[in-house]
Amino acid sequence: MDAYCHTMTKTNSLVFHCIIVLGLTLTKIQLSEESELIIKRPNANLTRVPKDLPLQTTTLDLSQNNISELQTSDILSLSKLRALIMSYNRLQYLNISVFKFNTELEYLDLSHNELRVISCHPAVNLKHLDLSFNAFDALPICKEFGNMSQLQFLGLSGSQVQNSGVQLIAHLNISKVLLVLGDAYGENEDPKCLQHISTETLHIVFPSKREFRFLLDVSVSTVIRLELSNIKCMLKKQDCVYFLRALLKLRKNLKLSHLILNNVETMWDSFINILQLVWHTPVKYFSISNVKLQGQLASRRFSYSDTSLKALSIRQLVTDVFSFPQSYIYSIFSNMNIQNLTISGTHMVHMLCPSQVSPFLYLDFTDNLLTDMVFKDCRNLNGLKSLSLQKNQLKILENVILMSAHMTSLQKLDISQNSLRYSGQGSPCSWTQSLLVLNLSSNMLTGSVFRCLPPKVRVLDLHNNRILSIPKDVTHLRALQELNVASNSLSDLPGCGAFSSLSVLAIDHNSVSHPSEDFFQSCQNISSLTAGNNPFRCTCELREFVKSIGRVSGEVVEGWPDSYRCDYPESTKGTPLQDFHMSPLSCDTILLTVTIGATMLLLAATGAFLCLYFDLPWYVRMLCQWTRTRHRTRNIPLEELQRNLQFHAFVSYSGHDSAWVKNELLPNLEKDDIGFASMRETLSLARALWRTSYIPLRRVTSPSS
Ligand SMILES: *[C@@H]1O[C@H](CO)[C@@H](O)[C@H](O)[C@H]1NC(C)=O
Ligand SMILES: *[C@@H]1O[C@H](CO)[C@@H](O)[C@H](O)[C@H]1NC(C)=O
Repeated sequence: MDAYCHTMTKTNSLVFHCIIVLGLTLTKIQLSEESELIIKRPNANLTRVPKDLPLQTTTLDLSQNNISELQTSDILSLSKLRALIMSYNRLQYLNISVFKFNTELEYLDLSHNELRVISCHPAVNLKHLDLSFNAFDALPICKEFGNMSQLQFLGLSGSQVQNSGVQLIAHLNISKVLLVLGDAYGENEDPKCLQHISTETLHIVFPSKREFRFLLDVSVSTVIRLELSNIKCMLKKQDCVYFLRALLKLRKNLKLSHLILNNVETMWDSFINILQLVWHTPVKYFSISNVKLQGQLASRRFSYSDTSLKALSIRQLVTDVFSFPQSYIYSIFSNMNIQNLTISGTHMVHMLCPSQVSPFLYLDFTDNLLTDMVFKDCRNLNGLKSLSLQKNQLKILENVILMSAHMTSLQKLDISQNSLRYSGQGSPCSWTQSLLVLNLSSNMLTGSVFRCLPPKVRVLDLHNNRILSIPKDVTHLRALQELNVASNSLSDLPGCGAFSSLSVLAIDHNSVSHPSEDFFQSCQNISSLTAGNNPFRCTCELREFVKSIGRVSGEVVEGWPDSYRCDYPESTKGTPLQDFHMSPLSCDTILLTVTIGATMLLLAATGAFLCLYFDLPWYVRMLCQWTRTRHRTRNIPLEELQRNLQFHAFVSYSGHDSAWVKNELLPNLEKDDIGFASMRETLSLARALWRTSYIPLRRVTSPSS
């Protein structure tokens, strides 16, 4: 179940609606601030429009279900409905009058259904009407469409395109028209039928899987952006002549600046012919994507002269096994006299150096199979500003550094997602001085890379490499503002000694366990630090760092506090650093030493005092002896004592008391009538005596036994 009830700002009834809908599967409700209520139930196996929709619904998405009918009663009560999306359903028939009570409806998407027929009704508020990818025979254009002056997007489909239909909307200024030609399109074509349409962007989808043998004139005069999908010309004898003819007509369209071809299947020869033809049209931006090429390419001259083209982009091109020298293709591309060239996702293994100084400013060769031999010693790219060799087969960084040396205007280089390593031995560090942005992410680089970096680089991305530490003898990068070393194995934050302008540092997902506390002191300019997801050791050292995070303003530390958690010790694992506290005493060694020292001193002083004034050692020794004696006597039965043993009494006394002992104690002890009846008694007597003599003894002087 997938149900949401968001920001209930209005009334209780909304709460009620949410509760109803919660019971249904795959339901999403969002209520934005302008009291929008968006109900989404795509992919819910619905065969009918649900009956329980909230009356305040403004957007209803029922795409990808099995709904085959739409009736007035289904949506009658949804008077606030502004957008209805029912693409990918099974509607076969539509009466536009079902929307007559939904006066606010402006967005209607019924594409990818099985519509064959529509009945007309005025719907003047529609801005977006999509009836494309349906089963219409003739284009579904009613005369009422002519009144839809707000219309910005119109999607149509049909197997026949009649001039009469198109005329009905000729006067509207629509931003974009999508025209999907049905599989049966082609018989009795009216080549001129689109000429009256008035739109800036025209996207025509030709029947897929059919050879391009159409006469349709796509050179609509108002069009600025023309997209053509499904162009298949595989017949060798025909040389793609129908399509080339259609392109040829574009020469007259002086407004046309963007041409986009999608899903092209043809021969290499025809492909180069297409390029050559577009070279001489007013098109400035030409993109081709999803191309399948076959066959051979005969060598011939490519005429570069007289072009408006500024940017060419070729994406996702596959070709069967090459049976002709590829260098010919590479030389066609490398000598193009345009500013921007993108060739990506093509399995291209090499690219030649332009044969003369090239006007290229931006080259994007992302996702190919280029090696680090590309543009070796190439001196004709000295105007190039940006080069992307992302996701290729580059291995040796030294070669890339040498390559860059000749690109004296290069500001941005992306060589991420390769297998680059750097040893730096015996090769000069000849990075081009102009480089400002260098992307080295997702390679196999270690800390040694810091020994050779472009001196003026401002943005350096080294995330996802194998950096264990940043060496001490790094290149000083005074201009470096952004450093990304996330997803490496660094154990500490780098200081800013070598990077005096650093303002953005990403070092998350590393092995930083106790970051240096002086980081913020060293890096005064830091405005963003991302250091989460590190295995922090929550011990005393960390306290200072956490404290210094507290001192910098809240926005500086990205992901704080959620991504910053203790990893060690075990008992704190998972605790946010923010909630981790240690008592000041256990962390401050000086405080701890002082406290222990003071306690010891106090104890010693007390001891000394007691010794000095209360004869403590004497008492202790006496107590000791007394306990020992007591213990000994306890373990021997009384009779045995009397029978076998002769007793001695030890009396310890001070010299001052000797008179008393001799004259009083001894005679008393030796008197028969008290006698040595038992040791116990003797001792109690001694104790009693000791007690009585306690005061006088102390008063006289400290005893010396
Ligand atoms: C060339 O590509 C760059 C980078 O994508 C872009 O900023 C620039 O506008 C493009 N120039 C032209 C003429 O297309
Ligand atoms: C570097 O390239 C990666 C993709 O490989 C991209 O995600 C990242 O944003 C780039 N970094 C910069 C600074 O452009």
